[in-house]
Amino acid sequence: MKAVEITTPGGPEVLQICERPVPVPGEGQVLLKIAYAGVNRPDALQRAGLYAPPPTASPLPGLEAAGTIAAVGTGVSGWAEGDEVCALLPGGGYAEYAVTHAAHCLPVPRGMGMKEASCLPETHFTVWSNVFQRGGLRAGERFLVHGGSSGIGTTAIPLAAALGARVFTTAGSDEKCDACRTLGAERAINYRREDFVEILRAEGGADLILDMVGGSYIPRNLKALADDGRLVQIAFLTGTTVELNFAQIMTRRLTVTGSTLRPQSDTAKAAIAEGLRKHVWPLLAAGRVAPVIDSEFPLEEAAAAHARMESSRHIGKIVLQVG
Ligand SMILES: NC(=O)c1ccc[n+]([C@@H]2O[C@H](COP(=O)([O-])OP(=O)(O)OC[C@H]3O[C@@H](n4cnc5c(N)ncnc54)[C@H](OP(=O)(O)O)[C@@H]3O)[C@@H](O)[C@H]2O)c1
Repeated sequence: MKAVEITTPGGPEVLQICERPVPVPGEGQVLLKIAYAGVNRPDALQRAGLYAPPPTASPLPGLEAAGTIAAVGTGVSGWAEGDEVCALLPGGGYAEYAVTHAAHCLPVPRGMGMKEASCLPETHFTVWSNVFQRGGLRAGERFLVHGGSSGIGTTAIPLAAALGARVFTTAGSDEKCDACRTLGAERAINYRREDFVEILRAEGGADLILDMVGGSYIPRNLKALADDGRLVQIAFLTGTTVELNFAQIMTRRLTVTGSTLRPQSDTAKAAIAEGLRKHVWPLLAAGRVAPVIDSEFPLEEAAAAHARMESSRHIGKIVLQVG
């Protein structure tokens, strides 16, 4: 099969087309013939040598895709050859075929094409598990998500709004802020000229913050939280180390937590898929939430897709056309 490999750690140019054997599904796995694959920031980190795949995963990049089940391994129930699915992958999505755990597949939502479905899994698994399961966001709460125009942000904003939260977000330009408001943000903060701490405190503080920026945002996030507020950290785009007075965590009863999806067990990912199927897939099928697609590139131009993502000019998801 045709695939894209990381020839050596480096910039987008190290992504090169290659030939690989079609993988064989093991016990509990399915083989997916890929139509489209989603591109995510963690793929760029892996390409740069900063995010090693788990030892059992394909070394090829690609954490999500949509396509048709081409074969099922032993012990798989619920899926059959020919089913159209989108799937969270342990790796290997930049290819014509990939294997994944059967329980990490979800049906292509009714009324949706393969392109749109391909970019659902990674951000939806991440947002569902961190905002709703770990962060416990409830209707009526004030929710702040940083990086509102990112793949994660454009997933979190409409989902949180659809489930009744008041959504605040930050983004780096007025154009991005406009897009975030269209998606359901009550207030989109251009962080280049506005202070999110001041704005959230004037509203009574955020009940939940989803952060990918880290660095200097860590103490500012704690200030922006309401008493009993929760901070969920999913990345550290600007750094992991900071000096911080922990007393406020005690006196204001704050919770600081976080998680990363890829190293979690198959069982944990299957439980997230179940939550999505029950609570989010009906919203997608009803058109109440939808993915935002920034751009599409052929598989052969994966390097250009990464360059676009690293330019940070994109709004929403970038996808690769494969099949
Ligand atoms: N923990 C997990 O399980 C998990 C899973 C998936 C993704 N993630 C993480 O979540 C983050 C978002 O992923 P994504 O795929 O949605 O990414 P993405 O679409 O590339 O978005 C990243 C956005 O963050 C903003 N940003 C803020 N500070 C930045 C900085 N210093 N450098 C670069 N961008 C910066 C940029 O928009 P502005 O113009 O507004 O600055 C950029 O568009 C990534 O850090 C990724 O690693 C974590």
